[in-house]
Parts: sequence; C-alpha cells; structure tokens
Amino acid sequence: MSNIEQTLSIIKPDAVERNLQDQIKNEFKNKGFEIIKEKKIHISKDEAEKFYKVHESKPFYNDLCAYLSSGPIVVMNLQRENAVLENRKLMGATNPEDAEEGTIRKKYGISIDKNSVHGSDSAENAKVELNFFFKD
Ligand code: CDP
Ligand code: MG
Repeated sequence: MSNIEQTLSIIKPDAVERNLQDQIKNEFKNKGFEIIKEKKIHISKDEAEKFYKVHESKPFYNDLCAYLSSGPIVVMNLQRENAVLENRKLMGATNPEDAEEGTIRKKYGISIDKNSVHGSDSAENAKVELNFFFKD
C-alpha cells in the first residue's frame, strides 16, 4: 500500500553559511524526495523558541534557539513514500559522530548542535511543523 507523506526539512545555519544548500537539496532529490515548497528565511529567536517548544525543558534549549535564529535557513516541504522515516534515515543520528556513512549529518554535520539539518520525527509533528512555516 502506498504511503505518500510530506515532512518538514530545514537546512540549518551552519550548512547555509557554508553554501551547502544545493548539495543537500540534491541528497534529497537523489533519494526520491520532491521538494514541493521551499524558502530561505531568517527567523527571530522568538520564532525559534516557538518552533522548538517541545525542547523547552532541555538544557540545550536556549543555545538551540539562539543557533537556529543566528543566520539564514532553508525550510522545505519534502514529499515521497514514507517521507518522515526516509528523511530521518537520510539525515542520520543527531550527533554527526554517531551518524552512519552516507547520511547528511555524517557528510556535512560539524557537531551535535551544528548538525546541518532538521527533520520532523513523526507524521503528526510533520503536519504541525509544515503548518508553522507554510501556513497557506
Ligand atoms: O534533530 P533531532 O530530532 O535529531 O534531535 P533532537 O533530540 O530533536 O534535538 C533537536 C536539536 O537540538 C538537534 O538537532 C541538535 O541540533 C540540538 N541538540 C543539542 O544541541 N544538544 C543535544 N544534546 C541534543 C540536541
Ligand atoms: Mg527532533
């Protein structure tokens, strides 16, 4: 049975700053993802705090929000079969040191905080996160 999904991907400031957005977009396209919406934006710290609200109680929350709002990011609506899970697989582990060969975080990530990409972790969160950036 087919399960075409959409998920939110973000190319984070560390990757945009190093001009990796085209290479990273190609990683998605090569794995069968269609980029159905995308925009380059620079969000405020307040917006980052809303986006990452689920991590509010974590010790890294403040730094994480400061970081996501520190420079331009590229937000994308990605679509393919099982997009949420397939995107998480392609991204690799949160810490690039633990990420498998061939994953985006292994190839491009610098550290656990500067790990180049965000991806929704469930179909439910994908809807919430897509709505956050692409309301209409
Ligand atoms: O991004 P992912 O879903 O893999 O990880 P998360 O646990 O939802 O954490 C969100 C983001 O917080 C990560 O992508 C890291 O950039 C950051 N983080 C951090 O800076 N330090 C940690 N110990 C854990 C996460
Ligand atoms: Mg997460």
